[in-house]
Amino acid sequence: MYSTIAIEGSQFGDEGKGKITDYLANKADIVCRYQGGNNAGHTVEVNGIKHALRSLPSGCFVSGVVNVIANGVVINPFALLEEIDENFHGHENDLKLLISDRAHLILPYHIALDEAIENNLGDNKIGTTHRGIGPCYSDKALRLGIRVGDLLDKDYLLSRLKTVLPVKNKELIALGKDPIIIDDLYASLLAAAERLKPHITDTSVYLNAAIDDGKKIVFEGAQGSLLDLDHGTYPFVTSSSPTSISIPLNTGIAPQKINRVVAIMKSYMTRVGEGPMPSEQNNEWGNTIREKGHEYGVVTKRPRRVGYLDLVLVGYTCKITGVTDLAITLFDVLENVSDLKICIAYKLDGKVITNLPASASDYARCVPIYKSFKTIPEFDKTKIKVFSDLPVEAQEYLSFIADTLHARISILSLGPDRSETVVFNEVI
Ligand code: IMP
Repeated sequence: MYSTIAIEGSQFGDEGKGKITDYLANKADIVCRYQGGNNAGHTVEVNGIKHALRSLPSGCFVSGVVNVIANGVVINPFALLEEIDENFHGHENDLKLLISDRAHLILPYHIALDEAIENNLGDNKIGTTHRGIGPCYSDKALRLGIRVGDLLDKDYLLSRLKTVLPVKNKELIALGKDPIIIDDLYASLLAAAERLKPHITDTSVYLNAAIDDGKKIVFEGAQGSLLDLDHGTYPFVTSSSPTSISIPLNTGIAPQKINRVVAIMKSYMTRVGEGPMPSEQNNEWGNTIREKGHEYGVVTKRPRRVGYLDLVLVGYTCKITGVTDLAITLFDVLENVSDLKICIAYKLDGKVITNLPASASDYARCVPIYKSFKTIPEFDKTKIKVFSDLPVEAQEYLSFIADTLHARISILSLGPDRSETVVFNEVI
């Protein structure tokens, strides 16, 4: 048995993963980000101070923890340095950070292309974060990517820029954007390389040795399973796979080395950007939850779309990603909320279905079928030590989720601070 766990968002991202990962990081030796880039927005609250993390793993505020950014992540080197400055100004040595030499770099042309493609899509836009994520992963697949390890070799870096930029500049000009000047980009990359150099290594070698040594490792996904490029609500998805099943590829470890899979699940649904969301409540109910749960994007500040918990969607991701444990977040938001429901099936063209249609057009026609629950009364969070301490209405809501998903509720989050987390089962 290995001391490794995967943490994944089981919805559309923003499930409160940062807080749970930060909590688990206190028990871990290593926290490893395995996909996505600075499109993620993890909020970690430590001693009442909120930190907004984008590319840095959530263990970076826990002393002694080594934070790994693995090969499956895409890294904007300038944004990463800004994030380090914001969070570790004057004490950068406190940050133990390793960055994979195989991770791909998000460069200024990726950001310009992300914006230009979205603008050209008009009403059919994806609603991306405009951080250059899609164009960067596309270049990886096109073999036009520039990788973190390339920063270590000045001559090779220049030759890669000379190969790639003519193609990118043609695309930029065709889409109405200014071309990139090679000398400017090269100079700024060399400056960034100087600061990033001490962190760059082969993280796969490091992780495999750490697993063999019995080190406790938390693999942290960004976004959520329903934004998975293969299994999510395509095309309204991100450009990577934020699920436990992508960890081996994205970190360079074998699949059997992941011991438990913890799904972080909000007590209701939220989504940012476009795409289907059958249980969306664009009404007073949704507004109440948005305000109580502070449902605004960490990175983009966009108001999030809000809906009832949808167990058709979450059931699908839990099944394909092998979820063993649930960490339920923002449960306090549901206190005193009337008209509480969970979506348990859809009606599609007159037929009841409990699976996820592949086509966004079928999806848009799904009408949710709900089960109603009693209002959860206000309760003293400090008194909750075991499941049966919860009000009976809360127990009913949570037990229904656990039974439907065939997973145990191991962690319940009742507020933003580290101390407001109840653990029913240890997962690492
Ligand atoms: P991209 O990842 O910026 O390409 O955006 C693709 C889709 O994923 C859009 O709908 C974004 O709103 C969504 N997305 C990306 N990152 C996050 C996140 O951290 N939380 C929630 N949604 C996200």
